[in-house]
Amino acid sequence: MTLRAATGEDLAAIMTLERASFPTDAWSEAMMREELASPHGWYVVDDEAGRLVGYAGLRAVAGARDADVQTIAIAEVSRGRGRGRAMLRALLEEAARRGVTDVFLEVRADNPVAQALYVSEGFAEIGRKPRYYQPDDVDAVVMKLDLRGWARASTGSATGFDGGVCT
Ligand SMILES: CC(C)(COP(=O)(O)OP(=O)(O)OC[C@H]1O[C@@H](n2cnc3c(N)ncnc32)[C@H](O)[C@@H]1OP(=O)(O)O)[C@@H](O)C(=O)NCCC(=O)NCCS
Repeated sequence: MTLRAATGEDLAAIMTLERASFPTDAWSEAMMREELASPHGWYVVDDEAGRLVGYAGLRAVAGARDADVQTIAIAEVSRGRGRGRAMLRALLEEAARRGVTDVFLEVRADNPVAQALYVSEGFAEIGRKPRYYQPDDVDAVVMKLDLRGWARASTGSATGFDGGVCT
């Protein structure tokens, strides 16, 4: 597993994973391009010998105490081996470096795998947005993580990824 910062060059490969991972509500290529270019964003990819097997993004506006996990996905064949957790932790470590105290995210109510990952890192449900995901008519579960508590609890298990390359 190699984590590195995403670049604009990764757009096509990210979109392939995006469409496969979110068949009914994938972001458009234009949206993803904006995300990768945004000064408020921070995206990592899991690059396996030149083949992209995952990507994840954080939105953390400079100076803000709140940040959001924007998205996370691992190629189907590479799931269940700790890669999703490693990328999520890389995002949370970056949020901590930026002085964030609370991290938020939305996850589909019908996605128990992602919810289990988030809960196991310390996220807790704080609300629901009814029928948020269209056209599927699925609720969003809104979750929040106390990042300082997470940082204390995860001392010693950091990914060590700081925006360079981490294998
Ligand atoms: C969610 C996702 C990123 C997790 O990535 P992953 O690499 O498969 O997950 P990991 O191997 O790091 O597992 C992390 C945790 O997720 C949960 N998990 C993973 N696979 C699971 C499964 N098949 N069933 C239930 N829980 C599962 C477990 O809590 C696991 O922790 P554990 O291994 O200690 O039990 C991946 O499943 C994915 O890309 N799904 C499609 C896109 C998506 O739904 N993204 C989330 C949008 S909010």
